[in-house]
Amino acid sequence: MMKLSIRPRRNRKNVAMRGMVRETTLSADNLIYPMFVHAGQEDEPIEALPGCVRWSLPGLVEECRRLHGELGIPCVDLFGVVPTALKTPDGAEAHNPQGVVQRAIRALKAELPGLVVMTDVALDPYSSYGQDGIVRELPGGGIEILNDETVEALVLQALSHAEAGADMISPSDMMDGRVAALRTALDEQGYTSVSIMSYTAKYASSFYGPFRGALGSAPKTGDKKTYQMDPSNVREALREAMLDEHEGADILMVKPATLYLDVIAAMREHTQLPIAAYHVSGEYLMLKSAAASGWLDEKDATMEALVSIRRAGADMILTYAAPQVAEWLAEEKRSIT
Ligand code: PBG
Repeated sequence: MMKLSIRPRRNRKNVAMRGMVRETTLSADNLIYPMFVHAGQEDEPIEALPGCVRWSLPGLVEECRRLHGELGIPCVDLFGVVPTALKTPDGAEAHNPQGVVQRAIRALKAELPGLVVMTDVALDPYSSYGQDGIVRELPGGGIEILNDETVEALVLQALSHAEAGADMISPSDMMDGRVAALRTALDEQGYTSVSIMSYTAKYASSFYGPFRGALGSAPKTGDKKTYQMDPSNVREALREAMLDEHEGADILMVKPATLYLDVIAAMREHTQLPIAAYHVSGEYLMLKSAAASGWLDEKDATMEALVSIRRAGADMILTYAAPQVAEWLAEEKRSIT
């Protein structure tokens, strides 16, 4: 027998003991579900995102009734899927009061007033260039994304969402100064209680592929590296956080999540604001594919990934696994009681 007075394993000896010393928890309260909505009549499964669907408006409302009412998911984040015919260089469909997102917000708030309805604010699903902002074609070839003109367009889009009843808007474009411009415009129009969750540190990541497939929103030319952040940087994320906080953001977001846990942790040290992390489409698909191959247990691997995001310091997680995770959590609760 070793003479060991300190044996950390004592705190791991059974389920109850492990529960007592657990430092990080995951609950449905922490989950935000990104959802895709289109003007069609059918609910279409999305091949690139197994388990996710391009919802019709009635399908969206019914699914949200289940997610909110039965599974306790507090918030959904809406993305509009628009046909190519509606995509223009200036992405003007983004602020059409009768656009698919605006109609979805109205339908959800009418049926489920307690659900937090959040929307993505950026032009890419509506832009014929597949860029988040207003594009200028350069004389020598190539394109430039115009910052200040884009911010004006984002303001119109955000106001149309607020007008339709959105609880929270979420600019995902990474233009400079957009949080202040959105806050000012919302306040001037009387939407003082509409929250802003800013994509504070959104990286130019290769893990957005399945999402772009779902929306048909991949850039037609160029990339997004003049506005989304360089994956090599973390101090720059803190600079963005400081700006968004000053400009009036209510919640800061880091995206992607599991590859950027250090960024979440650094941000946690520097702000008192809540932090969200977006477990993006590529992160989700990696887990799904590995689970489908039989080499990873889907539930265990997904829970571990999401708990690691919480442990790094995120208060809430946007994830395509939200409904499934909420079901697993409810099952666990039933098996304990
Ligand atoms: C676009 C937007 C993107 C995502 C959310 N909003 C893609 C992009 O920037 O190209 C990615 C989400 C995901 O991959 O799950 N403004």
